[in-house]
Amino acid sequence: MKLLEGKSVIVTGAGGGIGRDFALAFAAAGANVVVNDIGSSVKGEGSDAGPARQVAELINKSGGSAVASTDSVADWESANRIIKTCIDAFGRIDAVVNNAGILRDRFFFNLSPEDWNAVIDVHLNGSFYVSRAAAPHFKSRESGSYIHMTSTSGLIGNLGQANYAAAKLGIAALSKSIALDMARYHVRSNCIAPFAWSRMIGSIPTETEEQKARVEKMKVMETAKIAPLATFLASDLSKDVTGQIFAVRANELFLMSQNRPLRSVHRAEGWTAETIASHALPAFSSHFYSLDRSQDVFSWDPI
Ligand SMILES: NC(=O)c1ccc[n+]([C@@H]2O[C@H](COP(=O)([O-])OP(=O)(O)OC[C@H]3O[C@@H](n4cnc5c(N)ncnc54)[C@H](O)[C@@H]3O)[C@@H](O)[C@H]2O)c1
Repeated sequence: MKLLEGKSVIVTGAGGGIGRDFALAFAAAGANVVVNDIGSSVKGEGSDAGPARQVAELINKSGGSAVASTDSVADWESANRIIKTCIDAFGRIDAVVNNAGILRDRFFFNLSPEDWNAVIDVHLNGSFYVSRAAAPHFKSRESGSYIHMTSTSGLIGNLGQANYAAAKLGIAALSKSIALDMARYHVRSNCIAPFAWSRMIGSIPTETEEQKARVEKMKVMETAKIAPLATFLASDLSKDVTGQIFAVRANELFLMSQNRPLRSVHRAEGWTAETIASHALPAFSSHFYSLDRSQDVFSWDPI
């Protein structure tokens, strides 16, 4: 019996990149798959039914079972249609992968409300809409697995990605909240922060020799390397795993930390701005985090 035999899984943004490899891996593991993708550009412009249909066709031709869905995650009604597509086609939902995404990178001082909203709509609102639409099904079956794609851009930091980082850290909080609220129904919710050579990071310039060498190293971060963790999280092998954040980079797997108090100071009489400066600051400052970006923390080449 295959690992996901009899299960039905929805993968959003599955027309290309990481999501496409998720859909193929889930199907190979025996799952029925809803291949959802609007077929937009990286910036979220335009739409094309082709990518979702092609991936579904590929799965069906190789003996698997898939349906294409071209509804957007970024709208409540349309997110509900994605869930309905799965129920209509397969009669049940066992896992939802919130993977659809776009980028509108701008330095914060140039970030327009349109570029802020577009990114929040697809990532954070989209993850909420799709998860919320699936919730009644998971609740009534008393089982289900949510898998959300976060990013070290939000968990750690990155230049020029205020919209994306805020959405991705919001998704980590959404996942933890779902894990807490739905634990009583045996529903689990986890995040994956992937590193993968997809079109999303494929626009890095390769003009200098140094840039070319950097990009060559990045190409080992194949999108297919993220799929085994997603397959594990969609399967019963992860039945006791919830509220966690994992990262994957080529052959490396990481369990990421979550915020906890780091250091505390106490004064019986309470604090003033001055005593914070004279007493708390010296106690805290050696523990302050520097302005790290993701690449400062993941500072070694992918393995
Ligand atoms: N590639 C990386 O290194 C990396 C790093 C961190 C996080 N991620 C996250 O992983 C996920 C997949 O990224 P990828 O690198 O494969 O990118 P990608 O651009 O190849 O795939 C994203 C897909 O989402 C689809 N999409 C966009 N808006 C949609 C909408 N409203 N409804 C449905 N589908 C929509 C696109 O058409 C596209 O096919 C994203 O959530 C991304 O933020 C990727």
